[in-house]
Amino acid sequence: MKILGLESSCDETAASVVEIDETNGSIKPLSNVISSQIKLHAKWGGVVPNLAAREHLKNILPVIESGLAEAGVSKDEIDLIAVTHGPGLIPALLVGTNTAKTLSLAWEKPLLGIHHIEGHIYANFINKKDADIKFPALCLVVSGGHTQLVLMKKHLTYEIIGETQDDAVGEAFDKVARILGLGYPGGPAVASAAATCEFQSFDFDVHFPRPMLKKTNFDFSFSGLKTAVLYFVKKNPKEIKNKKFIAEVAYEFQQAAVEVLVTKTIRAAKKYSPKTILLAGGVSANTELQTQLTQAIEDNLSKTNFSFPEIAYQLDNATMIATAAYFRHKALTNKKSLLSTWKNLQTKANLELPKK
Ligand code: KG4
Ligand code: ZN
Repeated sequence: MKILGLESSCDETAASVVEIDETNGSIKPLSNVISSQIKLHAKWGGVVPNLAAREHLKNILPVIESGLAEAGVSKDEIDLIAVTHGPGLIPALLVGTNTAKTLSLAWEKPLLGIHHIEGHIYANFINKKDADIKFPALCLVVSGGHTQLVLMKKHLTYEIIGETQDDAVGEAFDKVARILGLGYPGGPAVASAAATCEFQSFDFDVHFPRPMLKKTNFDFSFSGLKTAVLYFVKKNPKEIKNKKFIAEVAYEFQQAAVEVLVTKTIRAAKKYSPKTILLAGGVSANTELQTQLTQAIEDNLSKTNFSFPEIAYQLDNATMIATAAYFRHKALTNKKSLLSTWKNLQTKANLELPKK
């Protein structure tokens, strides 16, 4: 079957066609078109919802046309339309959701609304076969809006065993980037600055806290870490243009964030004994996190598999939405009902992961 995925929850307008070979469950992207609004929002230092919506409105139909054209697929060959309907920025979500509803009605195609984080988790299945990932799985979800440890006993069921009590880790990267004058989006900028750090010869006595590390629960907190960075920078006002200072602050911040994420994930895995650990969300692009988590799993949980999405599917994209939709569709008994989803599909800013 062929699924058209659409994504517009934040600052990326994306469309993708995914082909599923139902004989062997292989999941193959045929296109992955992403129109990014980074330049538009950069001057504001973050995403402005109404500007994002206007851009989505301008771009969504051309992006869908490109998604179909790059896949070499006509609308008649599409078996299912899938769209992110939350969580996210409502003005942004409305554009994708309403476009998907309109296409579903006009083309007479079934429609499924998909949870954005479920999409990030299912990005791990792209270019794999559906049986390749073994359950139970423990997911470390790290994005601009979420930081959660999620236990999946089987497909499509989610138990949140821990989450951030304040900022998401991606948000902390973005705020630290702003404090250091590194611009937006902050995650890649902080990671690049940290990578220039010659850590054998620290010039500055920089040490940040590892929030909640000693707490035995699986919750996180990143707001205090960001504030510690802010105070340290304020204490050293003359250094703010000093590249070595910026590199050392970025490095120590990244180490603190990664240490907490890795330690809590390993601790949760020891308690819940998953067969697989999955990394998901935009911060999964962080190579320090990938490397340290890979090593920690090898050292502590030699029988546990580890997966993170391929580079093209780590940040927001529509291939992950179409992939999650395949699993939701497969599990549905009344598939015909999807022909009338367009009548009642809603968007929700704080949509929760479905428990069952
Ligand atoms: O999943 P995503 O694309 O959008 C949301 O669903 O939020 O995640 C975006 C977040 C941003 O906060 C961005 O700064 C962060 O992911 N990010 C990174 C890296 N690349 C993106 N954080 C750390 N290191 C990176 N290389
Ligand atoms: Zn995302």
